[in-house]
Amino acid sequence: MSELTLNNGVTIPQLGFGVFQVPPEDTQRTVEDALAAGYRHIDTAAAYQNEEGVGAAIADTGIAREDIFITTKLRNGEQGRAQEAFQNSRKALGLDYVDLYLIHWPVPSQGLYVQAWKEMERLYENKEIRAIGVSNFLSDHLDTLLESAEIVPAVNQIELHPSYQQAELAGKCRSLGIEVEAYSPLGQGADLNGNAVTSIATAHNATTAQVCSPGTWRPATSSSPSPWTPDVSGKILPRRP
Ligand SMILES: NC(=O)c1ccc[n+]([C@@H]2O[C@H](COP(=O)([O-])OP(=O)(O)OC[C@H]3O[C@@H](n4cnc5c(N)ncnc54)[C@H](OP(=O)(O)O)[C@@H]3O)[C@@H](O)[C@H]2O)c1
Repeated sequence: MSELTLNNGVTIPQLGFGVFQVPPEDTQRTVEDALAAGYRHIDTAAAYQNEEGVGAAIADTGIAREDIFITTKLRNGEQGRAQEAFQNSRKALGLDYVDLYLIHWPVPSQGLYVQAWKEMERLYENKEIRAIGVSNFLSDHLDTLLESAEIVPAVNQIELHPSYQQAELAGKCRSLGIEVEAYSPLGQGADLNGNAVTSIATAHNATTAQVCSPGTWRPATSSSPSPWTPDVSGKILPRRP
């Protein structure tokens, strides 16, 4: 699977497997399936309440830890205690370090994301996280963060798919050296039936899910649709009965 290099030199597998809405009791098996299919990048979050299942799958796999890239995210209500929240996520995952830790949402009404970032910078310096980033940050949130940040975010994970491309924000991120990571790349399924997507799929003898897959239409990392059985060749197969 192709990899991208983040602004601190860390490489990230371009296509990730997201576990949003995967029930805790199904997460280990789901992640084991993803790893067996070839995924090496798993995207979870404290808010998904399934970090333990991700960790159990990693613990049970024979794949070397350094060959798996794990992202998790700081829960909105824990921005005032990011260090403690991170340690809870790290322990739930059963890991010595996390590859990418993101502020899940800026929640500007709390006024805490700059403080959270400073705590994340310390965790990064302590080598407990290989790269730190943000998610759902709009232009003004990035501006505010960068006024006092010592470290430029490696990633901004944002909703991005054919019918919602956020080109201006994506361009700004890239100009700042922030990698754009697409979430909901299929538009939660809605983009799979779009005219342009269907035409491109027909022209290239591909599935519409392949057309929406970021590896095929834009140079961004992505989380994959969680409830579906993955196939590393690019096909996204219906979930198992
Ligand atoms: N940072 C954030 O705030 C944030 C927010 C959202 C998501 N994410 C990340 O992005 C990942 C993926 O996002 P997502 O699950 O919201 O959206 P998505 O990947 O765009 O869409 C997933 C949905 O698309 C449908 N689908 C998938 N493959 C299909 C196919 N081949 N044919 C027809 N329909 C298909 C399924 O819907 P049905 O089950 O309804 O059929 C599936 O639940 C998440 O797991 C998470 O890691 C991050």
